[in-house]
Amino acid sequence: MRITMVGSGYVGLVSGACLADFGHVVSCIDTDVKKVEALKAGKMPIFEPGLEELVAKNVRQQRLSFSTDLASAVEGAGAVFIAVGTPSRRGDGHADLSFVYEAARAIAAGLNGFTVIVTKSTVPVGTGDEVERIIREVRPDADISVVSNPEFLREGAAIGDFKRPDRIVLGVEDKRAEVVMTEIYRPLFLNHAPFVFTSRRTSELTKYAANAFLATKITFINEIADLCEQVGANVQDVARGIGLDQRIGSKFLHAGPGYGGSCFPKDTSALIKTAQDYGSPIRIVEMVAAVNDQRKRAMARKVLTACGGSVRGKTIAILGLTFKPNTDDMRDSPAISIITALQDAGAKINVFDPEGMDQARLVLNDLTFFYDPYSCCDKADALVIVTEWDAFRALDLDRLKELLNAPIMVDLRNIYDPEEMARQNFTYSDVGRGKQTALN
Ligand code: UDX
Repeated sequence: MRITMVGSGYVGLVSGACLADFGHVVSCIDTDVKKVEALKAGKMPIFEPGLEELVAKNVRQQRLSFSTDLASAVEGAGAVFIAVGTPSRRGDGHADLSFVYEAARAIAAGLNGFTVIVTKSTVPVGTGDEVERIIREVRPDADISVVSNPEFLREGAAIGDFKRPDRIVLGVEDKRAEVVMTEIYRPLFLNHAPFVFTSRRTSELTKYAANAFLATKITFINEIADLCEQVGANVQDVARGIGLDQRIGSKFLHAGPGYGGSCFPKDTSALIKTAQDYGSPIRIVEMVAAVNDQRKRAMARKVLTACGGSVRGKTIAILGLTFKPNTDDMRDSPAISIITALQDAGAKINVFDPEGMDQARLVLNDLTFFYDPYSCCDKADALVIVTEWDAFRALDLDRLKELLNAPIMVDLRNIYDPEEMARQNFTYSDVGRGKQTALN
């Protein structure tokens, strides 16, 4: 099938490349000329494991191409996916749908023959209705069906998530669209991946409910971790003890510095707003968002405590800046709040991140950048692990002790063993594994 992907950002690019790999002929469109030129030259705009190779293979086999010319790409396409951004709207926290509606207008102009329009972007309930209305307004003659097909891709694992999904949710309103969507996902259908066919509005809401639930799970375990610190309990054992109950499940129970990224903060905010607008507030999610916001900055207090109460004039080495490993994405990363709070408290900040330093330069000031963990720690007064990159899991502790002014480690991802760290004479703090220790 010929497919057009409108928007070649994270979701559009991964989805486009994977659909091409399923055997479809996919044209990825973007309004950003530079991005399209770079993609044509084989340069990825984002860091995502396996993406460059997947794109190169499908370009070589002539199933994947990039262009700025939306109208010609839409002509003759069986399906047109909308995968443009839906950022938080400044001021009110609603999803900004201007890119989606702009895309709908542009698509309408090029339509020809029966075409399924698929919203892949995360969009509030009712957006599919509005997309349909816009298209029919521009082209009353258009033969279309608008489908909702949310993505559930994790950054850093997006290709695997696309090809081996837990489920595919499809909000379809008629049989013709169902046939087209089944054809698009035929390889997954044949692999017995679970499909959830439902109404468009239900599908749109399902995406927000999924992300809000996961954000709630993380926030729940984070607050349990805080209590663990007060009562001398171990949050990892609590997580295992509850997670083995299949009704709860063991995933997304890792306590840490609070969730970040391009999805959870923005999607919880948009869901809160939609729910309020409809007079049906989801108070639990309102609380989750507020608790998580406070948590990120509060993590700096752990560093202050570990440093004996003050970081004024001290140098703090930060390992990990991105909101999670295997991405260069800094959006809403806990590192931003933690570093800003430490700078406000008078600390100088050294940083190292395997992929995120270019993005970090855009959102943080007065950082000293290093290109490996050890030089980052040289003459620093404490080391803080903010992101659990694999490269930080087996650091040479003897070498760190020699480099650091004092052997202080604050491990916000619980990747070291407290007993081992005590044996190594580190002043070690973590998240929710017993009492926090202070220097002296
Ligand atoms: C998420 C969803 O997982 C995905 O389905 C959706 O479509 C987009 O949003 P992503 O933002 O890539 O994906 O990251 P994810 O791996 O879900 O992590 C989000 C944040 O939660 C990260 O900051 C991570 O560190 C944090 N997290 C996750 C925890 O603190 N504890 C956990 O147990 C899991």
